[in-house]
Amino acid sequence: MAFTVLVSDQIPKRSVDMLRAAPDVEVIEKVGLTEEQLLPLVAGIDAWVVRSATKVTRRLLEAAPRLRWVGRAGAGLDTIDVAAAKERGVEVMNVPGANSIAVAELAFGLLLSLFRRLPEADASLRRGEWLKSKLMGRELRGKTIGIVGMGKIGRAVAQRAAAFEMRCLAHDPLVPADAVRGAGAEPVGLDELLSQSDVVTLHLPATADTKNLLDAKRIAAMKPGAVLVNAARGGLVDESALLEALRSGHLAGAALDVFAAEPTGANPLLTLPNVVASPHIGASTREAQEACGDEIARMILERMAAAATA
Ligand code: MLT
Repeated sequence: MAFTVLVSDQIPKRSVDMLRAAPDVEVIEKVGLTEEQLLPLVAGIDAWVVRSATKVTRRLLEAAPRLRWVGRAGAGLDTIDVAAAKERGVEVMNVPGANSIAVAELAFGLLLSLFRRLPEADASLRRGEWLKSKLMGRELRGKTIGIVGMGKIGRAVAQRAAAFEMRCLAHDPLVPADAVRGAGAEPVGLDELLSQSDVVTLHLPATADTKNLLDAKRIAAMKPGAVLVNAARGGLVDESALLEALRSGHLAGAALDVFAAEPTGANPLLTLPNVVASPHIGASTREAQEACGDEIARMILERMAAAATA
């Protein structure tokens, strides 16, 4: 039995090679295609490996009659029409956890950049200025961090917050209070977390229930002078309300890796001096990409081997 696997986003070469090395597996590796360009390609595939750029839409799934497995080399499934896949009997796989350290480390990278004004420091130095006396920052030690979402990434953030000697609050209705305590955080309701935290950091998936979780009302309920870190999904935050809160000074700053629309184009948040930003690179470390790519390749090979002998 022969299988065709489409890899339509960039994953490490060694993960693609793992797929290629399997007997009776043909791999088509084509990245950066539009939906129109993908339509004829998906017609003959059995498995499909994606990262973030490819949107696995109902239209594409309907054009793929042989498709049995979609593997997302990442945690979030918001780029895949999971309901449409389920209707068609297509199994959707992801690798939650494989990039959690990368995302947790970036959250702290962004937070430290914001607190120590590193982008400003770097840019001014390159302009030939020496702003040593102006670039006053703040320390993390003693601040309260509120983690919204205590999955693998949230827990990795809590661990790192402890190393920075921060007080750690967490909110996650899906995680038992004991498990939150075990991860070094104090379980609290969302309102309490927002009103007490100097730093609010989001680590939960984008779903219909979490869309605009931080809306104007919740942003207004955040502690004055707090900062927001978002390395999860842009859709969790009402960006107009965030913009207003940053302009008014209610929030001191925001550190953002993700945006409601990506690529961002002319997002007004990017014009503010109290915003530090990066282009959705939370999972973009060599270690995380290798872990995600290898794991998803392994899962697909396992499914194909089982199907071949069934
Ligand atoms: C994830 O869902 O794990 C990340 O968004 C993955 C990525 O950026 O590729």
